[in-house]
Amino acid sequence: MVAAHEESEINAASGRPRPALPLPLALSLKLRLWRNRQIARPGFRRLIARLPLLRGIANRNAAGLFSLMSGFVHSQILLASVRLGLYAALLERPADTATLARHLGLPVEHARLLLTVNADLGLTIEAAPDLWALGDAGVVLASDRGLSAMVLHHDMFYRDLLEPEQLLAGTGGEAALGRYWAYARSADPGALPPEAVAAYSTLMRESQAMMAACLLDAHDFGVYRQVLDVGGGEGAFLIAAGRRHAALRLSLFDLPAVAERGAERLQAGGLASRSSTSGGDFARDLLPADADCVTLIRILCDHDDQRVGAILANLHRSLQPGTRLVIAEAMRGAEAGARLSSAYFGLYFLAMGSGRCRSPAEISALLATAGFRDIREIASPNRLIAGIFTAIR
Ligand SMILES: C[S@@+](CC[C@H](N)C(=O)[O-])C[C@H]1O[C@@H](n2cnc3c(N)ncnc32)[C@H](O)[C@@H]1O
Repeated sequence: MVAAHEESEINAASGRPRPALPLPLALSLKLRLWRNRQIARPGFRRLIARLPLLRGIANRNAAGLFSLMSGFVHSQILLASVRLGLYAALLERPADTATLARHLGLPVEHARLLLTVNADLGLTIEAAPDLWALGDAGVVLASDRGLSAMVLHHDMFYRDLLEPEQLLAGTGGEAALGRYWAYARSADPGALPPEAVAAYSTLMRESQAMMAACLLDAHDFGVYRQVLDVGGGEGAFLIAAGRRHAALRLSLFDLPAVAERGAERLQAGGLASRSSTSGGDFARDLLPADADCVTLIRILCDHDDQRVGAILANLHRSLQPGTRLVIAEAMRGAEAGARLSSAYFGLYFLAMGSGRCRSPAEISALLATAGFRDIREIASPNRLIAGIFTAIR
């Protein structure tokens, strides 16, 4: 009876009959609805606030909700602080408010305000009255160029989110992120000129350090003779892999204008003698087949399913049987990090105009459809940064 009752309510909108829910699921849904009705009552919330044991939970939940409501303010505090160079100024030494105000070009009162709100968010510490140092998260922001670069490029994302319901309805016109990621909606990405790929390629290089560390810790690339990084950007992952494994040969494939940038970087990194680069369209052109390991890092999530199908089919057609494929990118999942990543990238890819954050089951199905075998999700040191899959051609 429970199942039938819920069923009629759930299906009222679609008008289509839906099979009765299994009893345990129907009961847990019923319980959730009862709980929701209690929480919706102000009187119930007042009662909870008076009970010492439950008050802590209620206050934590309230703080979490307020953090969600005010997240846009936090983002702008970060943006202002990175642009003004606040974290960089405090990386090596503490400083007083007046000195920082001069350095940031702000009136003393506003510099103090910015430092105080940063302290509220755990990014700075007021070690003594008007004497400031960085908190742990502030140090990471100051020392990882990739994080600052991500924060800076969020000004585009922020503008794209100004009318979120238009973005969701698809009536908002071309978004800034769509223009930035020039390949996302290009009919002929292989023809993109150097100026169209420069900004995103720099961002990808600068933000690769954490991803490379995560992937190199999760999977031993030392067992391979040669790794081909498909959509490898400016070669930041290959440079990290080459430094970790001295005998590993390195190949990079990307759009022609990006591959040229990659060749320069590999040379500047002292890796020219054991690396090669080539340019083309990874959904269409034959890829070099001499590597025994091929990586796709932050690639599939950029594209809609049909295009992912074409990319994987092209890899399958190009590679020698037995070649290992390694995929690392933001993926959905139950872990707290995966959920944060999925919420962020869910709207990011919508604004960008292509791609989505997929579940491990979806990645697995796409690989199987393209003909890959031995498909495995391997443990990722940090699901906020990436989920990781391996498969065999
Ligand atoms: C999100 S970036 C990731 C770059 C790099 N793998 C990383 O993680 O830093 C996507 C990369 O795919 C490349 N790309 C996009 N479309 C491509 C295509 N059709 N053929 C070859 N490369 C492409 C882009 O130029 C870019 O370097």
